[in-house]
Amino acid sequence: MKHLLKLSDLSEKEILTILNLADQLKYEKKNRIEHHYLKGKTLGMIFAKSSTRTRVSFEVGMYDLGGSALFLSNANTQLGRGEPIEDTARVLSRYLDGIMIRTFDQEEVETLAKYGSIPIINGLTDYCHPCQVLADLMTIREYKKTFKGKKLAFIGDGNNMANSLIVGCLKVGMRVAVACPAGYEPDAAIVAWANETGRFTLTHDIFEAAKDADVVYTDVWASMGEESEADERKRAFASFQVNDQLMAVTAPGCMVQHCLPAHRGEEITAEVIEAHANEIFDEAENRLHAQKAVMVMLMQDKDTD
Ligand code: CP
Ligand code: NVA
Repeated sequence: MKHLLKLSDLSEKEILTILNLADQLKYEKKNRIEHHYLKGKTLGMIFAKSSTRTRVSFEVGMYDLGGSALFLSNANTQLGRGEPIEDTARVLSRYLDGIMIRTFDQEEVETLAKYGSIPIINGLTDYCHPCQVLADLMTIREYKKTFKGKKLAFIGDGNNMANSLIVGCLKVGMRVAVACPAGYEPDAAIVAWANETGRFTLTHDIFEAAKDADVVYTDVWASMGEESEADERKRAFASFQVNDQLMAVTAPGCMVQHCLPAHRGEEITAEVIEAHANEIFDEAENRLHAQKAVMVMLMQDKDTD
């Protein structure tokens, strides 16, 4: 594993290795055991979109690992003025030990990896959000103890979260059902791949998707960059809400996950968020541990392991 660009690049074994290391790093952090596995290393963090969790968890993560992180906003770097990603990749590779990038186009992340000579981590694109789903899987395993046969229902937009959840959950042996309005389906190639597993369903019926689910997942109706479509999306997604009525058809002990930020009263009710707050904020915390595992796997000197 040289980069984390999208989960479809990873095998089940690689995903489980990251999750096991994340559990170890969480234990070390909680028990104040020093874990400076990236001493003296620097991560550059390129942001073309807003962030709370991703920015803070990567920065704190590098600090915990004995290194440091540099915030690079598109607005204040030459990237924002049109310097090509191919040149940026080669320049930053001379200064840094790794790059985390959050941007719009997945192609930009792939190009950064192609032209750079250091590990690249995808911190969200319009296509996928692999770091989030590694944290989600870590949290699901903490609560459910196993992945095999567990059902995750994703209710809402077939967006970056849906795409990564489908790939990540199916790779570790879960079942996945997605319910979205017509016209808002996940990526067609991912759906085609998912259909071949025999453990995937795509429907427009939220109750069918949520039936007997062990995990219910939702995300905002309008993602970053889709602000101008917000009104149209409010109409299209009006009945795609995670509420008590929907939770009533899920399996006993069903957990709720949300990548956050959440819009209470839209994709999820305040009641459901508060009833499942422990799971949702454990999930947010696990961003830190899961990403630290990714950084150690990608950025630790192999000859000094
Ligand atoms: N879930 C997530 O990626 O949050 P931020 O946008 O705050 O980073
Ligand atoms: N789908 C959301 C996820 C935010 C973490 C977005 O792209 O804005």
